Amino acid sequence: MHYFNYNNNEMYCEDVPISKLVKKFGTPLYVYSGKTLLRHYKAFDESFKPHKHIICYSVKANSNIAILNLFAKEGSGFDIVSGGELYRAIKAGGDPQKIVFSGVGKTDEEIEMALSKDILMFNVESESELYAINSVADRLNKKAPISLRINPDVNPLTHPYISTGLKKNKFGIPYESALETYLKAKKLKNIEIVGIDCHIGSQITQLSPFLEAIDKIKALMKELERNGIEVKYIDLGGGLGISYKDEDPPHPNEYGEAVLKRFEKIDKTLIFEPGRVIVGNAGIHVTRVLYTKENTEKKFVIVDSAMNDLARPALYGSYHSILPMNKKDGENDVYDVVGPVCESTDFFAKDRSLPKLERDDYLCIFSAGAYGFSMSSNYNSRRKSAEVLVMGDKYYLIRERDTFEDLIAKEKIPQ
Ligand code: LLP
Repeated sequence: MHYFNYNNNEMYCEDVPISKLVKKFGTPLYVYSGKTLLRHYKAFDESFKPHKHIICYSVKANSNIAILNLFAKEGSGFDIVSGGELYRAIKAGGDPQKIVFSGVGKTDEEIEMALSKDILMFNVESESELYAINSVADRLNKKAPISLRINPDVNPLTHPYISTGLKKNKFGIPYESALETYLKAKKLKNIEIVGIDCHIGSQITQLSPFLEAIDKIKALMKELERNGIEVKYIDLGGGLGISYKDEDPPHPNEYGEAVLKRFEKIDKTLIFEPGRVIVGNAGIHVTRVLYTKENTEKKFVIVDSAMNDLARPALYGSYHSILPMNKKDGENDVYDVVGPVCESTDFFAKDRSLPKLERDDYLCIFSAGAYGFSMSSNYNSRRKSAEVLVMGDKYYLIRERDTFEDLIAKEKIPQ
């Protein structure tokens, strides 16, 4: 459920016509619905109400500080994977005691930064990282709270580029050596074991992979207890999918119910790291038609956004639904919707049936709230989009469009 709808044939975000935003801020433009963001956050949070839990929203999905601030005010913690995300989370008002630090390649500098902010825990992804954290903590005279990210070797049944919990993936510590690594961690003077963590992938649309992973994590938890290791936190990562086209992922309630059933009478705080399920359908990307053209095989719509603005179709061939900002009557045509970047992967849709389009029509690309702006770049020296947050009949520019000066601000010509 989201709050982007036609009203009198015009697309609105909540009570604001998109045309008004486009007139004011131009295109390419990201538009987020505050009401949808909060609704999704609350629905997810409520699903775990019967059990002690912390939601650590996954910053990488959409890292604008206005959006992080919205979640922080609801009590959300954050899942971060870099010093930059830590910086953002704290600037946005995040509570360090609700921050978990994931990622396979934390640098000493990032570890030091996180230790000095007293984050909740490091999700450690290798034995060598464990030693690095121990030695930085020793230098700072601190004890680092850690969990081990376990790779449970479960197939998440999703796109191979975003599956992370298989043996062949670079993530986590192999299930078979988990106990051994925990026992090594226990001996380290500046390490405090507080949790077990796993994250098996993203855009997962079935419950079974999650439940399979949970069963393995629970078995490990018991094995750790037999070896005198008690943890406080079980971090189950993120990964719950959304509907882009005709996927039918479990509702957060259904996911919550199934997960909690497996933790009945287990007195641990559960941690979740949702990203996409909260922000994915709460944002659209708006673009203007520059040209249409056709050859003997195809009709193309060339728009003013490109793969640098929304990389998902180019990277994963992913589907995003597209609707015109102003509803159009008449017959449809079949188009490839493409951007101005000089690459053949620069497309938003292939062979898509859309109303007949012409120059200066506007298109709304849906489900762009997650991994949209956060994965955008300046490729082809294109200026990154502006971002707008709508709340009822109000709207706020939460990121200005890049200027040309921004593009070269850090560059220098040697004298
Ligand atoms: N926790 C960890 C450790 C992660 O690596 C991720 C996502 C999440 C949580 C959040 O997962 P989510 O709830 O959003 O599925 N760029 C890709 C998705 C990459 C996901 C990376 N990790 C895409 O556009 O589909």
